[in-house]
Amino acid sequence: MIESEFLKLCRRRKSVRRFAGRPVEREKIELCLEAARRAPSADNMQPWRFVVFDDPDKKARLVDAVLTGVFATSRKLAAAPVLVCLLIKEHLLVNKVAGAVQGTQYQLVDAGIGGEHLVLAAAEQGLGTCWIGWYDGRALIKHLGLRGKGYKPVALIALGYPAADVSAHERPRKPLSEIASWNEPPRR
Ligand SMILES: Cc1cc2nc3c(=O)[nH]c(=O)nc-3n(C[C@H](O)[C@H](O)[C@H](O)COP(=O)(O)O)c2cc1C
Repeated sequence: MIESEFLKLCRRRKSVRRFAGRPVEREKIELCLEAARRAPSADNMQPWRFVVFDDPDKKARLVDAVLTGVFATSRKLAAAPVLVCLLIKEHLLVNKVAGAVQGTQYQLVDAGIGGEHLVLAAAEQGLGTCWIGWYDGRALIKHLGLRGKGYKPVALIALGYPAADVSAHERPRKPLSEIASWNEPPRR
């Protein structure tokens, strides 16, 4: 297989769950957001919304609201200096029609692509990230004052410089032969 800088970046990116206290420069966060802004989306609807918390007090209040009870296990991730709330703006006609006809929620697909653009841009900057799916989405909408305004939470993304002693923990990947097929349906 041929090598590429992008492939190297994909291999370098790993979920980081412990962060240095050092704040993240706004310019670097903006670069990550710009990478997300450049992502493709169904019918170019760009349904993603990124709400960035880098103010320690406001971030602490957010954590108190969305990472309590059963969700408290995600608190260690929230020690990252930055938390990005990834939302989608719902009820966009094109997404609704495609969703109803095809059964695919393209807004969620779009949000995933945008979020991962952000994550890979962060990795390129030497920043660590971790997607957080285990949080209280309803509480997030309430905390942000977005009830009834057509937003749906997708994930949180923890962002920061990795702690100095974070080891390069490699999660296994399925072989290409299992996840891709040529001119045939998948075997399993
Ligand atoms: C949508 C999504 C939600 C995730 N939620 C969590 C989470 O709540 N807590 C966590 O520790 N990791 C979470 N992860 C990280 C995955 O566990 C991780 O990406 C996977 O194990 C592969 O490891 P790697 O990212 O280091 O390659 C999530 C990842 C994705 C894409």
